[in-house]
Amino acid sequence: MNKIDVVLGLQWGDEGKGKIADFLTPKYQIIARFQGGPNAGHSLKFNGQTHVLNTIPSGIFHAGCTNIIGNGVVVDPVKIKAEIERVENAGANVKTNLIFSRKAHIILPTHRLLDAASENAKGDDKIGSTLRGIGPTYRDKIGRNGLRLGDILSADFEKKYTGIREEHLNLVNFLGYKDFDMQVLEQEFFEACEYLKQFRFADTEYLVNSSLKDQKILAEGAQGSMLDIDFGSYPFVTSSNTISGGVCNGLGIAPQHIGRVYGIFKAYCTRVGGGPFPTELHDETGEKLRKKGHEFGATTGRPRRCGWLDLVALKYAIMLSGVNYLIMMKSDVLSEFDEIKVCTSYRVNGVFTSQVPYDLCTEKVEPVYQSFKGWTEDLTACRKKSELPANFLAYIDFLEKELEMPINIISVGPDREQTIID
Ligand code: GDP
Ligand code: IMO
Ligand code: MG
Repeated sequence: MNKIDVVLGLQWGDEGKGKIADFLTPKYQIIARFQGGPNAGHSLKFNGQTHVLNTIPSGIFHAGCTNIIGNGVVVDPVKIKAEIERVENAGANVKTNLIFSRKAHIILPTHRLLDAASENAKGDDKIGSTLRGIGPTYRDKIGRNGLRLGDILSADFEKKYTGIREEHLNLVNFLGYKDFDMQVLEQEFFEACEYLKQFRFADTEYLVNSSLKDQKILAEGAQGSMLDIDFGSYPFVTSSNTISGGVCNGLGIAPQHIGRVYGIFKAYCTRVGGGPFPTELHDETGEKLRKKGHEFGATTGRPRRCGWLDLVALKYAIMLSGVNYLIMMKSDVLSEFDEIKVCTSYRVNGVFTSQVPYDLCTEKVEPVYQSFKGWTEDLTACRKKSELPANFLAYIDFLEKELEMPINIISVGPDREQTIID
């Protein structure tokens, strides 16, 4: 019996999960998403072209690879219709290679409205949600009020929908949100639901477990550990478990079947949306990171906040998910800085700690930094560790000692080819 391997983001999302899932796909027959929804934006680059995936797993461009959207994912029929059309135009065989769990919950048009209405109502305290309806959909799932993809196929789907719609619209109205045309939203929603009927639906928990007998499966995480609903910087988080534990309930896999846990982190840190970010840089260095790293959201286009690598948060994420294989992304972006800094501990209200405090939002957290000499060499053409500059290797060496594990893959550019395996 094979084990299921997992790819996870260890920071605040956008670590490069899409690139690595696509890079690893040749070793796997099945790629499965287990949480999140179209709030994710996973970029893949090959043959000079960039593709952005939101809900579809990153194995879709490999012929013969099965891609599963697991029960833990929330699916917006309207958004996924557009995404399917996009990847089909790029040559992917979606009808054969994509399977939806019947138990995945549906993002309704009113969930998107509720997201917008509740963010508006929060004013300055807003989460900075992608407004894809993620929070309200998971809220209905937990509140036992949601609709699942399997319901699309049932005769009373419209009746079930109508009851929930009324409840949602009352709430939207109460929150004073008026900026929408329900007729337009519903027309595109029902068209998209009809469209989805041509694709494969299954009770994917059976498929995943039986496939482990003779196939290799990679579970692809979305968002990042610091956005986890339980362990992230609450309430500035997403509404699902982004850590490896999420694989168990998001796909129906028992814990002992989890094998390698690939943890992905950037050589620095970014965050998009609101919430605490201890190592954020509000100066020219932060601006330089954003510019060199093209740090703008793949889904929303928003500028990402940038800062130095945070080892306190990274060690926490490694612990929570039992990461046993590390991958460092965007190493090339750190060239041409005179000095590179890494946060090794926090000073919280004057006391040094190596733990993430209970409430990152209200505690006064000051990062304590260790400095490194920068390097000027361009890394993007390096393909072997021996080609990397000495100052960069010293940085890696320090990180490996601090993290007490090797960094197994170093990414030096967005393309599949720009990947160094130790
Ligand atoms: P994901 O959400 O974790 O899949 O990450 P995103 O796709 O949202 O953001 C990562 C961005 O960095 C994308 O634009 C990738 O093409 C790009 N990228 C990935 N790896 C590297 C790398 O090693 N170097 C550089 N310069 N860009 C990278
Ligand atoms: P990938 O998979 C980065 C952030 C949002 C917001 C918070 C809640 O591409 O790494 P939500 O829409 O879930 O209600 O937003 O989480 N967020 C992400 N940030 N990458 C993502 O996904 C994200 N998905 C959600 O910006 O702060
Ligand atoms: Mg992303």
